[in-house]
Amino acid sequence: MSRQEVISLNEEAAKSLRLGICGLGTVGTGTLDLLRENADEIRYRLGAELEVTRIATRTLEGKKIDNIKHVSTNVFDVINDASIDVVIETIGGYDPALDVIRGALISGKHVVTANKALIAEHGNELFELARENNVALAFESSVAAGIPIIKALREGLAGNKISWLAGIINGTGNFILTEMESKQRQFEEVLKEAQELGYAEADPTFDIEGIDAAHKLSIMGSIAFGIPLQFDKTYTEGISSITPEDLNYANELGYKIKHLGIARRSKNGIEMRVHPTLLSKSRLLANVNGVGNAVLIHGNMVGATLYSGPGAGSAATASAVVADLIDLARHIQSGITSPVYPALGYFEMRNELTIIEIGEIEAEYYLRIPAVDRIGVMAQISGILQEHDVSIEAVIQKEAISETVPIIILTHIVTEKRLDQAIAEIESLADVAGKITRIRVEPFNGEAA
Ligand SMILES: NC(=O)c1ccc[n+]([C@@H]2O[C@H](COP(=O)([O-])OP(=O)(O)OC[C@H]3O[C@@H](n4cnc5c(N)ncnc54)[C@H](OP(=O)(O)O)[C@@H]3O)[C@@H](O)[C@H]2O)c1
Repeated sequence: MSRQEVISLNEEAAKSLRLGICGLGTVGTGTLDLLRENADEIRYRLGAELEVTRIATRTLEGKKIDNIKHVSTNVFDVINDASIDVVIETIGGYDPALDVIRGALISGKHVVTANKALIAEHGNELFELARENNVALAFESSVAAGIPIIKALREGLAGNKISWLAGIINGTGNFILTEMESKQRQFEEVLKEAQELGYAEADPTFDIEGIDAAHKLSIMGSIAFGIPLQFDKTYTEGISSITPEDLNYANELGYKIKHLGIARRSKNGIEMRVHPTLLSKSRLLANVNGVGNAVLIHGNMVGATLYSGPGAGSAATASAVVADLIDLARHIQSGITSPVYPALGYFEMRNELTIIEIGEIEAEYYLRIPAVDRIGVMAQISGILQEHDVSIEAVIQKEAISETVPIIILTHIVTEKRLDQAIAEIESLADVAGKITRIRVEPFNGEAA
């Protein structure tokens, strides 16, 4: 067969890439709408059609399923349809989504998914299954929705050794902190509004406790450093203990508080952590407000690059799903039936790079200490900090609120476990009236935008 014949055969194959959608909710419907609305644009870009020939979703009432050839409520109908080339998994959660993806890969179908929880927690197994079956498992939409961050890390920055990345990767959490800071509102009240506006789930645990962000961070961290997915080793702390007072004190010190996912190559290993973080007000990331997402990536050659945009929503997420579909169709047109990139961007994994315990990290810290309003308490606190080699960068001592007076301390760099020992000793003082709030400070060592 001549090269020309091979090309036309591949073009023929890609002309009618047949798609099956499992789960027609926010993302599934957005994908269907985008494929309809931008059909001409896609045809011009690709010289081929992306045709949804089958949809399976739990309830059919009220769904835009006119003109779809095959519709059912059983998602395994999509897997069992031999004519489907690509399964789009937009069910979410673990069951039946995990079996849907496994089944699709085993039956030789490519999969495009928006499911960050599944990729973060089962990706190692699923990518191996995709490799064994010579098919692609694409997941651009699973992290930061409309921002093409997977392609940026895996392809655009592939010439770099990534030093670190830091991102605001949960829009709900960022909306809550922005509202609390700008309008002096309490956490619970803003959370309720976020639920009413449809930003937060009815069960908002994944958003506010940082689990959703940890899923996304573990995916980005794997691609950045070439390490297997390790969601279970990603340190995760939510935003529910942040108060408007902390936001105000941080402001007085020149900082904003953002809920960040940070992955860093440090001298002891890889840091993977999600937690509230003090950021200098002058940093670009500190000024990303509301439901927006943004990720700052530092490569050893390019320096810092910033990606920002909509991290959720029907059309924004569909934009990333369809980017994966077009990518896949182009590979097939080029005669590549198996995925051209290793899913995590590394031919060989860097298994020697291990994720370090949170106690081993070194950082600067903000401390809010509820002290009893008595002479000598500050001397006791600074004595303990000194004993543990924790040096103080700044202190704010406020007016007494009833019996207690909040003492705010910014420390210089210290190992977290050393600081924890000092905190435990300070909390045991008779003149300290409760738990100390401890928030990490991220200076980015002058490297970032
Ligand atoms: N929403 C976003 O902005 C966004 C952004 C990035 C990534 N994602 C990810 O995209 C995925 C989908 O999220 P979504 O917001 O689109 O969720 P969603 O609106 O709840 O949609 C899920 C769809 O799957 C259907 N479904 C659920 N269980 C099913 C079952 N057993 N069999 C058949 N159909 C079933 C639901 O049916 P019913 O219609 O009957 O409920 C619904 O149509 C998740 O993994 C999510 O993390 C979402």
